[in-house]
Amino acid sequence: MRTIPVILDVDTGVDDALALIFAVKHPAIDVRAITCVAGNASLAQVVDNTLRVLDAAGAPSIPVAAGAIRPLLAAARSASHVHGENGLGGLHLPATNRVPEAVSAVELMRRSLMASDERLTLVALSPQTNLALLLRTHPEVADRIERIVFMGGSASVGNATAVAEFNVWHDPEAAAIVLGSGVPIFMYGLDVFNQVSVPQDAASALATGTDALGRVVGALLGNRIALSEDESLVYTGLIGDAGAVCALVDPDGLGIEKRPVRVELSGYGRGQTIVDRRRYSGEDRLHGGIGEWADIDVALDVDATRYAELFLDTLGLAG
Ligand code: RIB
Ligand code: CA
Repeated sequence: MRTIPVILDVDTGVDDALALIFAVKHPAIDVRAITCVAGNASLAQVVDNTLRVLDAAGAPSIPVAAGAIRPLLAAARSASHVHGENGLGGLHLPATNRVPEAVSAVELMRRSLMASDERLTLVALSPQTNLALLLRTHPEVADRIERIVFMGGSASVGNATAVAEFNVWHDPEAAAIVLGSGVPIFMYGLDVFNQVSVPQDAASALATGTDALGRVVGALLGNRIALSEDESLVYTGLIGDAGAVCALVDPDGLGIEKRPVRVELSGYGRGQTIVDRRRYSGEDRLHGGIGEWADIDVALDVDATRYAELFLDTLGLAG
């Protein structure tokens, strides 16, 4: 089987944990390195969570490195209301003997890209600070990147704000640098992220079952929660970032369009990804000066049942 060699950039994070488990379990995905960045939790917590999740998944030895401790310009902001104080929604995984590499995330990505015979896919499930630093520090690696697949952005509503998704909102300048890099880019945004979920009864059955990995996955799914409009916490069961990894191996489960996209950097719209879905040119184009846009592939629809089944099947947890 032809495998897809990838570097995962994570801010683990309840659903980053689900994504890591899926990635190391799927036979067509070859995880060459994992880099960590502050986002859903602090950098130190993200590194610790990532190493523990790899143990829980029974992953082989994979190099893990710590990266940016905060966004390029903005202050780091907490997502503890969704991911809990420890980033895993309060799930405490056993301590691990795994340790991070003694090099930075940027250096681990550079080395992995330069050492590989084939181009690698960078999968960013996190604010894109590490990727922006890589592309600014070592622009020569751009040719070694097959494409960048990122979870982030939205062509419709936001979550961090009414229009901005968390990963892009957390570090908009980094996302703008990545979009402007010229590397082929695939956006798995909230339009699809918000559709793929595991029903609560199935998650509960896993959490209370006898399979060790199933118990971890069930607990993580049980911690996939959101603030409802009245500010109470509700179960979503969203596989979240794991869906962006599903997209690597099952692109046919998505409706994808190539669209011009830009990141807003100021005002209330800061962190918004504007996706131009017009079928015809508008006055802005006719009268010149439409600013910086990147033509990228955007996932706008997903066969949610198919992706939820792919996720559970790959983990050997289908009912
Ligand atoms: O916006 C969705 C958030 O939850 C992002 O942080 C994403 O990566 C997931 O962890
Ligand atoms: Ca994430």
